[in-house]
Amino acid sequence: MSRKPLIVGNWKMNKTVAQTKELIGQIATQITKVVGVDVGVAPPFLALSAGIEATRNTAIEVFAQNMHEADSGPFTGEVSAPMLLELGVQGVILGHSERRAYFNETDRALALKVRKALDSKLVPLLCVGESEEERDGDLTERRLRQQIQEGLALVTADDLARIVIAYEPIWAIGTGAVATPTQAQEAISFIRALVADIGGAAADQVRILYGGSVTDQSASELLAQPDIDGALVGGASLDAQTFTRIIEAAAAVTAAA
Ligand code: PGA
Repeated sequence: MSRKPLIVGNWKMNKTVAQTKELIGQIATQITKVVGVDVGVAPPFLALSAGIEATRNTAIEVFAQNMHEADSGPFTGEVSAPMLLELGVQGVILGHSERRAYFNETDRALALKVRKALDSKLVPLLCVGESEEERDGDLTERRLRQQIQEGLALVTADDLARIVIAYEPIWAIGTGAVATPTQAQEAISFIRALVADIGGAAADQVRILYGGSVTDQSASELLAQPDIDGALVGGASLDAQTFTRIIEAAAAVTAAA
């Protein structure tokens, strides 16, 4: 089963509206010749509208960085699926480790958010990953099992192919300590086996990305691993040239396959 690679830039709390237009314009110009790779960007909420506008007539998809599971209601500071859909957003990052660590994101809420995204025809990009202590304590598989089983608890086998998962070890995020290709491949093939427990053959269609200090230097080797279907890129996605080189690395791996 060949899966089309997906490279998504997670901009976190970076870029104003004006900067969003500029960066997307630069990326769009630089990737016009790239084929065989899906590309997404996830600007902050306030810049989503400008992002959608800037990606018109390009193949770049726009993701939100979070959303609430309810359609509307007394949830100050939150944003819902209908609001994102109205703008034309295509997907939503859910359960990023920064949201889990700083904003009390729970696996239970994530199960509802993943379900809501699917019902809303938004692509859920569910993030999972172990801490350094968990890896050192040989608890990586246990943590991943819990996050996948609980996060996908309301997903049926029929929905599975529409989900994207990002394996992002917490110790690798924003630290420069990128996982080795072997570490990333091992964790991601383990995640694929967990997904197969839910959906059997559909697990072959689920795209599972690696994230955590991906740069244009490390991308090729990571993306060449058999189970790694793309990358969720933080810091290196804020510069058009670097991000483009990562996208080109994905295209080269696909072309060589
Ligand atoms: P990083 O972030 O590439 O800056 O490590 C990745 C992420 O948090 O998604």
